[in-house]
Amino acid sequence: MEIVLCCPGAAPEPWLKGLAAALPQARVSEWRPGLPVADYAVVWAPPQAMLDEQAGVKALFAMGAGVDALLQRQLPPQTLLVRLDDAGMAVQMAEYVCHAVARYSRGFAAYEADATRAVWQQRLPRLRADCPIGIMGLGVLGRRVAQALRDLGYPVHGWSRTPQVLDGVVSHHGPQGLPGFLASCQVLVNLLPLTPLTRDILNRDTLGRLRPGAYLVNVARGAHLVEEDLLALLDSGQLSGATLDVFRTEPLPADHPFWQHPRLTLTPHISALTQREESIAQIACKIDALERGETVAGVVDVARGY
Ligand code: NAP
Ligand code: GLV
Repeated sequence: MEIVLCCPGAAPEPWLKGLAAALPQARVSEWRPGLPVADYAVVWAPPQAMLDEQAGVKALFAMGAGVDALLQRQLPPQTLLVRLDDAGMAVQMAEYVCHAVARYSRGFAAYEADATRAVWQQRLPRLRADCPIGIMGLGVLGRRVAQALRDLGYPVHGWSRTPQVLDGVVSHHGPQGLPGFLASCQVLVNLLPLTPLTRDILNRDTLGRLRPGAYLVNVARGAHLVEEDLLALLDSGQLSGATLDVFRTEPLPADHPFWQHPRLTLTPHISALTQREESIAQIACKIDALERGETVAGVVDVARGY
């Protein structure tokens, strides 16, 4: 079996070694122009030439959860596209979002400011009942985040495309469920995939429907958020702040107004990083399953966009 790896910008050696160790029957090579078509490809941000040349692979494995960038390329029509399905990302995402929510709800930014001036001042915490949290996207990552926040005692709402049932979470779905979902949120967490239906979904209208003084956590994709609308809603007080991990342009340009905004907390797309060992183990298991003629989780519905 031949496996080709293509991940420009990332160190290929540990992936080549890891895949070879996990699939001893396979020959694993880094892609270069002219390489014969492999059985399987493992990719992150591959050039179009690689996708064109390797159009005959049995499956294309993405080294991430989101496949929006890959779907902007010309993919061979019959190729099975398989994304990472948790592989160690869900717990990281839960940890990141719980941190952002606690920082907001417990007012840690004010204590950090106090500490720089040696000010000792206690403030009453916000009641959890007054801090309902809404999670857009109740998929692999959104469900794990919802469970973690629920277990911390926050009221949790979720919004998805189709109805989803999750113990202790109030579920909403579809365009008709969106206004009621938004109206119930003091904190909005975005964990949607980026698709034609979700691009720009965080805008003046949707964010304007949240409870007054609401807080936004965007950990999905930068193109979900209309940046000028966020700045306007922060100015008007409709939003009290936001934690942003993803941006329309990455890296975020040095002169972008977000960097200087006092009520924005920014991180460089690290809320859930690909875990190499777990990802290799998952991809190897799926290749073995496909070779046995079985189905695997994480197959992307290209028409749907996720
Ligand atoms: P997933 O399992 O595919 O879940 C997607 C969820 O979004 C599902 O609940 C789906 O609804 C819902 N959804 C999709 N389109 C919708 C629409 N039009 N209206 C309402 N709900 C919709 O994806 P995941 O693994 O949880 O990952 C989610 C996203 O997180 C990725 O696509 C990626 O962009 C982002 N991500 C970011 C980082 C980071 O470090 N910042 C890391 C990993 C992933 P159904 O349940 O009805 O299908
Ligand atoms: C990272 O953003 C991913 O989609 O895995």
